[in-house]
Amino acid sequence: MNTPINDLILSYAGSSPARFHMPGHKGRPLPGAEACDITEFDGADELYRARGVIAESEENAGRLFGCRTFYSAEGSSLCIRAMLYLTAMDAAAKGRGRARILAGRNAHKTFINTAAMLGIDVDWIRPENEGSLFSCGVTAQTLEAALSSAPYKPDAVYLTSPDYLGNILDVSPLSELCAGNGILLLVDCAHGAYLRFLTRSLYPTDLGADMCCSSAHKTLPVLTGGAYLHLSPRLPGFFARRAEEAMAFFGSTSPSYLILRSLDLANPYLETFSDRLAAFLPRAESLKKRLAQAGWTLAGDEPMKLTVLTKPRGYTGSELAAYMKSRGVICEFYDPDTAVFMLSCQNSGEELSRLESAFLSAEERPPLSGSPPRFILPERAMSAREALFSDSETLPVRSCLGRVLSSACVSCPPAVPIVTCGEIIGENSIECLEYYGTEECRVVSRAAQNSP
Ligand SMILES: Cc1ncc(COP(=O)(O)O)c(C=O)c1O
Repeated sequence: MNTPINDLILSYAGSSPARFHMPGHKGRPLPGAEACDITEFDGADELYRARGVIAESEENAGRLFGCRTFYSAEGSSLCIRAMLYLTAMDAAAKGRGRARILAGRNAHKTFINTAAMLGIDVDWIRPENEGSLFSCGVTAQTLEAALSSAPYKPDAVYLTSPDYLGNILDVSPLSELCAGNGILLLVDCAHGAYLRFLTRSLYPTDLGADMCCSSAHKTLPVLTGGAYLHLSPRLPGFFARRAEEAMAFFGSTSPSYLILRSLDLANPYLETFSDRLAAFLPRAESLKKRLAQAGWTLAGDEPMKLTVLTKPRGYTGSELAAYMKSRGVICEFYDPDTAVFMLSCQNSGEELSRLESAFLSAEERPPLSGSPPRFILPERAMSAREALFSDSETLPVRSCLGRVLSSACVSCPPAVPIVTCGEIIGENSIECLEYYGTEECRVVSRAAQNSP
């Protein structure tokens, strides 16, 4: 029997690629595998009823992040589900019935699917002048306007910061606004675990957010799947008391101890991480400066992400990614306009030099024209939950005009849906879907769409 996954991994690792993609350990060895792969036997604690070694390790992480910490061995995805469930539980406990959330439109598909499953009503914030579909530059003014035009007071505001392209929201005024209105602020900080360790922390819970998730595996030396659910110490005890229950509701009953161990081992690493990061950041900054001087257009505010707008230099994102790959440099993400490289303190000096020299020796080309279609928020025909559980069919994108999306069709990365469940697929949606390479959509069947 062949072993195609193993073969691919060994061949990739054997080619010594310069990894500018997740996970944050960049292929540098972490402690070994099978001998350490255990289960929740007596004495090894239980992830979702942590009273022993897991609780102790979570407390260590909590001290480092200044929050109540719960480990996830299933990424930020699990933490997002738990944040929504906690919000729904809180709304129910307060007698508010079904929870309602006002969310930045660039939400990860996990948010959309979970809200639909839990029957949470979502209203979208989409600033008018927003260029990219994957960003949502919510400011205090935008949020204030969205709150005052919403027909109801939401239970929570949900934002993504940093986004996939490296844009960071100014969370402090947003959290003040939420707190002033008695609304929870939840932040998807999957890409920003390291922000806590900057000289001036930009971590959401330090800036007033009530809950956030962060994928330790994306930016720290942690195995894929390792993530944190963080609760602000300011939150009422209700949330900490129910958090394990919320994680357990969605999580596997066989959490990986390899991942838990790597989260545990990250704690002593994080004790001195601020110094390491402070030493690395000037190198990242000067690298960006040299690339900009060489004519590359960079975007985003994240210090550890290199987001390149490729068309001004005559490349599509995919052409640049292919060229970089031919030079042994692997990016995290590309689309027609962009290529994203994730830097980490684990990247060696040789890897950074390889990245730079590949950029600096790229062929000079005339700029390419063309920009992404302007995104128009689709209209809603039915609730997301109704659409998700309707009879449905899969159709080529071109045949979906006027149909209602049943389940989010989206590729990962960046897993930001163009249309969400229950929305009508219009001309603009089709243009955007085609631009980003989506070929098919799952739509509500005609009979279900027309039934009263
Ligand atoms: C913005 C954002 N949120 C959440 C997630 C999910 O994180 P994880 O892969 O750790 O489950 C991702 C994944 O890339 C993401 O980009």
